[in-house]
Amino acid sequence: MSKGTYYITTPIYYPSDKLHIGHAYCTVATDVLARYKRLCGYDVMFLTGTDEHGQKIEEKAKEAGVTPQEFVDRIVLGENGQGGVLGLWRLMNISNDRFIRTTDDYHVASIQRIFKKMYDNGDIYKGSYEGLYCTPCESFWTESQLVDGKCPDCGREVHHAEEEAYFFRLSKYAKPVRELLESGDFLEPASRVNEMIHNFIDPGLEDLCVSRTSFTWGVPVDFDPGHVVYVWVDALFNYLTALGYQNDKYDDVEKFWPAVHIVGKEIVRFHSIIWPAMLMSVGMPLPKKVYGHGWLLFGGGKMSKSKGNVVDPYQLSERYGVDALRFFLMREFPFGSDGSFTNEALISRINADLANDLGNLVSRTVAMVRKYFPEGRLITEREAGPEDDALIDMVKSLRGGYERQMDAYQTQQALVDVFRVISRANKYIDETMPWALAKDESKKARLATVMYNLLEAIRVTAILLTPFIPASCEKIFAQIGADAAAVTWDAAAAYGVLPADVQVHRGDTLFPRIDMEKELAALEAMNAPPAEPEPEPETVTIDEFAKVKLTVVKVKACENVKKSAKLLRFTLDDGSGTDRQILSGIAKWYKPEELVGRTLLACTNLPPRKMMGLESNGMLLSACENDEGDPRLIILEDTLPAGWTLC
Ligand code: ME8
Repeated sequence: MSKGTYYITTPIYYPSDKLHIGHAYCTVATDVLARYKRLCGYDVMFLTGTDEHGQKIEEKAKEAGVTPQEFVDRIVLGENGQGGVLGLWRLMNISNDRFIRTTDDYHVASIQRIFKKMYDNGDIYKGSYEGLYCTPCESFWTESQLVDGKCPDCGREVHHAEEEAYFFRLSKYAKPVRELLESGDFLEPASRVNEMIHNFIDPGLEDLCVSRTSFTWGVPVDFDPGHVVYVWVDALFNYLTALGYQNDKYDDVEKFWPAVHIVGKEIVRFHSIIWPAMLMSVGMPLPKKVYGHGWLLFGGGKMSKSKGNVVDPYQLSERYGVDALRFFLMREFPFGSDGSFTNEALISRINADLANDLGNLVSRTVAMVRKYFPEGRLITEREAGPEDDALIDMVKSLRGGYERQMDAYQTQQALVDVFRVISRANKYIDETMPWALAKDESKKARLATVMYNLLEAIRVTAILLTPFIPASCEKIFAQIGADAAAVTWDAAAAYGVLPADVQVHRGDTLFPRIDMEKELAALEAMNAPPAEPEPEPETVTIDEFAKVKLTVVKVKACENVKKSAKLLRFTLDDGSGTDRQILSGIAKWYKPEELVGRTLLACTNLPPRKMMGLESNGMLLSACENDEGDPRLIILEDTLPAGWTLC
């Protein structure tokens, strides 16, 4: 029996670039909540999609030399059926029921009707707009809203823009919107309420510019050619058009509206002020909830497509497994606050919680049942022990606490609670020492009890982990012999659900341990920025060059250095009247006798250097093609006298 309906949404993402881990974070969190509600017995509608219009996309397409439609198709659909936003959500096991693209015909037609409806009821009127515009954010700002003269959302340059435009009477709705924000728990976390009231409502809500004439990639205002609907009006109404509002494509408005909107904190303003005001204007019920989650930070800043500091969820899912990534995202970061993404945190979390705690509990328990009981089937005799109650009580009370946390969007805390039981179960193994019980035939009933308690602890914790790591939980259920009836929401609150003679099955390792050092190096290599162009060779000043003393020398004698395949020993006349000895590593290329009498060029102000016990006072100059090339001595005309120096 359904407990009722539940409608939950993610933001619809801009397909201006490949999505990154920040988008995956929000989508996974929403997926977890959707799966949780389904598990509880709700009839769930989970919507995600893409926000495909606007100047930014138009510009990006132009840069890429394709039409805007081709551009967004490539990002949303992927190439040759691979990748893309849709591919990412498939890969990450996202259970959305619907996917909306704002370029879908039914949505475009609905937006035109909605715009006209608000125009007809007097909430949209024509005026002219002058202001400071941030192109990447598609937002007009007033001078006072700027931060250091830049866009307050993204920190980039804004430019002066003026256009004839339609306006939405946002000011008219200031009072009811304030009441909405102040009432109950419409917007969470609560800290965001003050922010909205203080920053936007208190200074006074101004009417909102809701059409553009400076570009064409948008939903045309059908009664005034040249105007396109402001991308945020087009985008926000997706939550309704996807249910069939103002179109015949679907008929689910009655059934599912209103929604719970999960959004990042930077777009809370649109969802908790503008969106309710527009809903009031068209006479629709207001959303049940707007939850503004925190940001994943990377190297100190918000990860963002336009900053280029993004982490690729495709890559991480493929490398560590989708569930490991999903788990990390939900366990590492408190949902309402910001958190820093690092590869180290990812790997330690997988190793500590999944490989060590959960993975070990399952594999040790299943292995022991298989080892100690024929065909891995428990005997039905039981014998309670003093260690049992502590574990059983925790397992029994787990669902209640978990439900409270999940209903309050405290997904991280829900996981902490589940893992407390998993750790307790591991401790129970150490306390009961099944390997010792197994040695004593008279302890068989006690051993079966210990194993049964462990299997029950695994069963209940895995049910509650299903929204987070669904595929892994399926594998766990198969290993512990839990059928569909044993893994329902009701069964999570019951103890003793598995049959007394339950049979376990061997399975693959759920979460292989990751070698931290090796992985960090591999990740770094994969994500290293493209090699920098070779730096220009450093120049030397003429004064620096003049310090090098290059002297014409004549070879008086030359011989091989004993025990050295490389070195020749030169006795040279450098014009000073005293012989100069230089060792040179060119024995491979020259015979000593062919060099005697030659006029060469030497650097004569290098510090003396010992080689093979002999002192070398300088360096003979040679040239070669490159570092590995054969050297050729620079041989000068014999008319040059010894001792002359370069000038
Ligand atoms: O704003 N950390 O789309 P968008 C956490 N099209 N979450 C992040 C994140 C990060 N570093 N970066 C992005 C838009 N997100 C509009 C929405 S809705 C009617 C229109 C997530 O592609 C977060 O949920 O910029 C954020 O709100 C959303 O992606 C923004 O995605």
